[in-house]
Amino acid sequence: MYSEPTTFSAEEYFATQLPPPTLQHEIERVREFISRQAKEGRNVVLVTSGGTTVPLELNVVRFLDNFSAGTRGATSAEYFLKAGYAVIFMHRQFSLQPFSRHYSHSTNPFLDFLEIDGVDQEGSPPIVSVTPSKRADLLDVLTMYKAVHAEGTLHTLTFVTVNDYLWLLRAVSQELSVLERKAMFYLAAAVSDFFLPRQRMSEHKIQSGKGSLHIEMDQVPKILKPMVDEWTKDGFIVSFKLETDDNLLLPKAKAALERYGHQVVIGNDLHRRKYEVVFVSRKAGTSPRASPPGSPTSAANEDQFEEYWLRIPIPDASIPPHQVKEIEEDIIVELVKRHTAWVSRT
Ligand code: PMT
Repeated sequence: MYSEPTTFSAEEYFATQLPPPTLQHEIERVREFISRQAKEGRNVVLVTSGGTTVPLELNVVRFLDNFSAGTRGATSAEYFLKAGYAVIFMHRQFSLQPFSRHYSHSTNPFLDFLEIDGVDQEGSPPIVSVTPSKRADLLDVLTMYKAVHAEGTLHTLTFVTVNDYLWLLRAVSQELSVLERKAMFYLAAAVSDFFLPRQRMSEHKIQSGKGSLHIEMDQVPKILKPMVDEWTKDGFIVSFKLETDDNLLLPKAKAALERYGHQVVIGNDLHRRKYEVVFVSRKAGTSPRASPPGSPTSAANEDQFEEYWLRIPIPDASIPPHQVKEIEEDIIVELVKRHTAWVSRT
C-alpha cells in the first residue's frame, strides 16, 4: 500500500490496479473471434477509439475525460472491413461506431427521415417508410452493415475508464499475438496520460466544504514499449500522435518511433485532422537505438525517418455529408499496402 504519487511501470500498474470484472468473459469471446478469423484466413485489426475517463472517486460521481468523439476509429473500422479485414473495435461506451455513425443522434438523427404513411386510410395500420431522398444512402450503409453481420467480421468491446482500456488492450493484444504478422493494431483512442490509483481514491463523493481541490495524479505507464516487446509477436503497430503545436508533431512522432520501435506513427493536428495527416516511419535498413524513456530524438537520427503526407480538400459546406470524402479511406489504403508488405516479409 502507498500514498505518494508514483511513476508506474506497466508491470507495476497491472500488479496494483484491479481488472474490470467482465475481462475474462470478454477475452474468451475475443479468442473465439480470432480463432474463427484465423481459420478463414483473414487479417485482423484491433481498432481503439474514443476517449478514456479517469474517475476521482471509487463510488464515482466525478471524472476527468479525454476529448474524442470516436470519429477516426469508427470511420477507419468501416474502411478496414471494406478492405476485407476482420475488426476488433474497442471503443469508449457511447462513442461513434461503424455504420451507425452515419446516423448520429446529434448530426443526422434517424427519426428525421422516417415518415408515417397511410394514417388516413381507415382500418389499415400506418406504415413507417424512409424519406425517398434518403433511401439510396441508407441502402448503401444498411447493405454493408448486414453483410458484415452475416460474415461475422466485426467484434465490439467497450471501455469507459483508462483502467478498463489498459487491461483490455493488454489482453486483446496478447490474444492477437497468435496471428503474428497478420495482426494489425490501430491505436486511435485518446488515452489519458494521468490517473489516480485506486489506493489513493476517496471512497465516497469528494465533499466541497473544504475549499479548493488539489489532486496529484500519477502518470499512466507508457504501454507501447511492452506492447511491442512482450504482448504482440511481430504485429504491425500503428499509433497516433495528436498535437496542437505544428512544431511538435514531427519531432514527437519520430521520438515515439525511436523509443518504442513500432511500425508507423500517424501524426495529426487537432484542427486539421480531418484533412491532413502525416505517416512517419523508419527508412528501410535503419533500426532504433536503445534510449532511456524520455530522452529526445537526436538530430543525427532525423534522417532515419521518412514522412508521407496525406491531404484531402476541405469540403464545401454545400456538399451533402454522405458525399464528403473521408481521409480515413486513404489512410486505410496506405496502411493495407504497408501491412501486406509486412506480412510478405516473413
Ligand atoms: O475521435 P476523433 O474525434 O476523430 O479524434 C481522433 C484523434 C485525434 C483522437 C486520433 O486521431 C488521435 O490522434 N489519437 C491519439 C491521441 C493521442 O494524442 O494520443 P497520445 O499521444 O496520448 O498517445 C500516443 C499513442 O499511444 C496513441 O495511439 C494512443 O492511442 C496510444 N496510447 C497512449 C497512452 C496509453 N496509455 N495507451 C495508449 O494506447
